[in-house]
Amino acid sequence: VFDHLVRAPEDPILGVTVAYNKDPSPVKLNLGVGAYRTEEGKPLVLNVVRRAEQMLVNDSSRVKEYLPIVGLSDFNKLSAKLILGADSPAIQENRVSTVQCLSGTGSLRVGAEFLARHYHQHTIYIPQPTWGNHPKVFGLAGLSVKTYRYYDPATRGLNFQGLLEDLGSAPSGAIVLLHACAHNPTGVDPTIHQWEQIRQLIRSKALLPFFDSAYQGFASGNLDADAESVRMFAKDGGECLVAQSYAKNMGLYGERVGALSIVCRSADVASRVESQLKLVIRPMYSNPPIHGASIVATILKDRSMYQEWTIELKAMAERIISMRQQLFDALRSRGTPGDWSHIIKQIGMFTFTGLNSKQVAFMTKEYHIYMTSDGRISMAGLSSRTVPHLADAIHAAVTR
Ligand code: LMR
Repeated sequence: VFDHLVRAPEDPILGVTVAYNKDPSPVKLNLGVGAYRTEEGKPLVLNVVRRAEQMLVNDSSRVKEYLPIVGLSDFNKLSAKLILGADSPAIQENRVSTVQCLSGTGSLRVGAEFLARHYHQHTIYIPQPTWGNHPKVFGLAGLSVKTYRYYDPATRGLNFQGLLEDLGSAPSGAIVLLHACAHNPTGVDPTIHQWEQIRQLIRSKALLPFFDSAYQGFASGNLDADAESVRMFAKDGGECLVAQSYAKNMGLYGERVGALSIVCRSADVASRVESQLKLVIRPMYSNPPIHGASIVATILKDRSMYQEWTIELKAMAERIISMRQQLFDALRSRGTPGDWSHIIKQIGMFTFTGLNSKQVAFMTKEYHIYMTSDGRISMAGLSSRTVPHLADAIHAAVTR
């Protein structure tokens, strides 16, 4: 009965890892998926995460019962506090409904399903470009996906005017997807002043902001600074949605731990929203897994563990920033044609190099360097040892 099926293509991001794994070359380098690696090129489990896990294992009172549909209560409260701030009026007024979801993607999907069922406007505007999974997550939930201008290839920066024009002509009530910080794939974020203008426009047109916060702490190394965009919206009394992921900032990629928060206008609305979120979640996956959320809650509620986490997080962010400088210096010392200053200006895990798909294919074939075909490289996958190899490959790709 399935004879008619054609083979589906690999995922544009995760498929890069599939191709990388098949390559026997000893010099191969995976700069595709956004996953942190150490200077030795190894995945990192944070010390504070190991410590939290040890505490969980040693606690014999812990059981493996089902979590409630909305997940671990402590985790939800602490996650809302982490993104909205401890002094958030919305939290103090009980106006936030938070549910534990399957990392950032699951949080986006639950939010999208909820909006498709209960929100009057089904059009969502996503930045152009954006994370490759966004249009699929929202489209498959039944929303109609449109784009707004975001990135200007000429300046390798923000097309702020285009963004304001496109959101300015969006229909009233439309949903707007915003990357809270460290925009994926471009590494280009609005300034705080620009965020304020975006906020005023969104509120004046009664658009509904939906934040994707996958990199809190990874952009600047500071958890509060990286949440500033979200907090500006949550503070003004209006509604917003926020999808949070702990994949990158706690290195909990495979634990699939994240949260969806919906900031409402009153506590009563928030509690009705939560009751409806339960109806979305139950037929999808019933209730979320316990382990990752327990790790996060253990760390977030203990002052010294939280402190230890911020130090480890900052170290990851700083290593990425130093990779930017090293790659920039390596290209300069090779005299590689072009202005590569965007490598040090862009923010977060990725550099949007400006290399085209042919150049990327060349680098993969000749240098065994794996990256997405749009020219995005994960700076977190680089090390001092591999920078020269990447710089050689880029130099060859742009001079051939
Ligand atoms: C990425 O963009 O590489 C990450 O968000 C991982 C993913 O799931 O695509």
